[in-house]
Amino acid sequence: MPADRRGLVLAIDGPAASGKGTLARRLAAHFGLPHLDTGLLYRATARALLDAGQPLDNARAAAAAAALDPARFDEERLRGAEMGEAASVVAAFPHVRQALVAMQRRFASQPGGAVLDGRDIGTVICPDATVKLFVTAAPEIRATRRHRELAQKPGAPDLGMVLADIRRRDARDSGRADAPLVAAPDAFILDTSSLGIEEAFAHAARLVMDRITTA
Ligand code: DC
Repeated sequence: MPADRRGLVLAIDGPAASGKGTLARRLAAHFGLPHLDTGLLYRATARALLDAGQPLDNARAAAAAAALDPARFDEERLRGAEMGEAASVVAAFPHVRQALVAMQRRFASQPGGAVLDGRDIGTVICPDATVKLFVTAAPEIRATRRHRELAQKPGAPDLGMVLADIRRRDARDSGRADAPLVAAPDAFILDTSSLGIEEAFAHAARLVMDRITTA
């Protein structure tokens, strides 16, 4: 480990159920960095509106985003496909994205560095990140993984529904005009279709080490 790795910022982007969240948590633990799952910000924005019985529109969602307090997030209530879908809707509103930029950049600029995962971390939030990873996998593989997780719970959707949800979210997240889901030109593409989490982690950790030892 190099003596000086101040300001190590890892930007981890990728589509729904690609494994980027697990990878980001593993990298954060390994390198001793704080981690922000930025999807929670969009999920909490949508949750606030739904809890208040309000429609998911631009102005209301932007106000809800500006009022978020991440310290009070109830992660259990933010998880799940329904909130993912609602998050993807509010995430397409430019004013919502604007309202969340400063908070994410503040997190990224902590003295020791940070790991952030999302859709636009390497392209918009942290264009100067030390290492950018774009984690992806075939939609069918992502759906199978997500379905396996959900199958533990009562009332779980079938595989076809999970795949349809993933495809719909991919299309919305990639097709929006503002900060679409796209790999930064300088991102490493990590296709986890045929990798287990341990292999994906080992690969990603090696990329980070290579970058910090040659910097
Ligand atoms: O990563 P996730 O499934 O929790 O994200 C939920 C939705 O939030 C996702 O479909 C798109 C949106 N999102 C985004 O637009 N930008 C981010 N940086 C993170 C999430």
